[in-house]
Amino acid sequence: MKNLIEIIKEAEVNKIAIGHLNISDIAGLKAVFEAAYKLRLPVIIGVSEGEGDFIGRRQIAALVKSLKEEYNYPIFLNADHTKSLEKIKEAVEAGFDSVMFDGSNLSLEENIKKTKSIVGYVKSVNSEILVEGEIGYIKGSSTILKASEVFIKQEDLASSQEAKQFVKETNIDLLAPAVGNIHGIITRTSVDNQTQINAGNPNLDIRRIKEIKEAVGIPLVLHGGSGIKDEEILAAIDAGISIVHINTELRLAWRKALEEAFKEKPEEIVPYKLLPKAVEEIKKVVEKKLRLFNKINE
Ligand code: G3H
Ligand code: ZN
Repeated sequence: MKNLIEIIKEAEVNKIAIGHLNISDIAGLKAVFEAAYKLRLPVIIGVSEGEGDFIGRRQIAALVKSLKEEYNYPIFLNADHTKSLEKIKEAVEAGFDSVMFDGSNLSLEENIKKTKSIVGYVKSVNSEILVEGEIGYIKGSSTILKASEVFIKQEDLASSQEAKQFVKETNIDLLAPAVGNIHGIITRTSVDNQTQINAGNPNLDIRRIKEIKEAVGIPLVLHGGSGIKDEEILAAIDAGISIVHINTELRLAWRKALEEAFKEKPEEIVPYKLLPKAVEEIKKVVEKKLRLFNKINE
């Protein structure tokens, strides 16, 4: 079976992107795996620090490994937005395929210094584990936000010169640049006080993605994929994005589906009779996203 970097490089050549879907529980894992399996597409499961703390890093690594082995399937696991060396170590020791060190709250110099030492540590344990770094400041969090909570300034975006320096000095495998993307989905309250979900996230700077890709030459990762228009995602992939992260849209599907399930079965207390609804709804979103990232029309 191909390893993660081979699959990413293949996506890069074919101008498609691998889906990176965040999960918090086994319903999420089941939904992502089933959607990917149905389409026979490789997939990356992401757990942020909080998600990983909740499920347990060794536990999610064991689950993903069991799917990989039982189905001989290209399913991979990433320690997403990890801010401490301690959690990076936990992920590496648990057998994750990749780790993302999020030093975006640091100055460029500090970010370079920390990311470089993380790369040194990870590669000394296992050179096949990929390390992703972040540059610029990707705002928001994977929830429903108000437009006033996220305002992107030009200086928050990654510049191609900084990106080049960052990649050269840290030796990372993958780069997540801030290119107009935010984490979360922006809502707007209309005049009749009806909240509109997904009123519109800021636009991506496609030209910036292209410039960064040309400057760094390594695969780029687009974070904050929820709430971005399909055409923009496709333009971003054509400009050099090889992995797209989605979280908020899956969380929203999970919440809506469970509310629905509780309403439909007010007396039900058996989790495995309620949770399939969440799996089903998350799966629909994942399938739609994977089709988009892989340019599958039918
Ligand atoms: O790392 C996670 C992603 O960047 C998720 O972003 O919640 O906007 O989909 P999202
Ligand atoms: Zn992210």
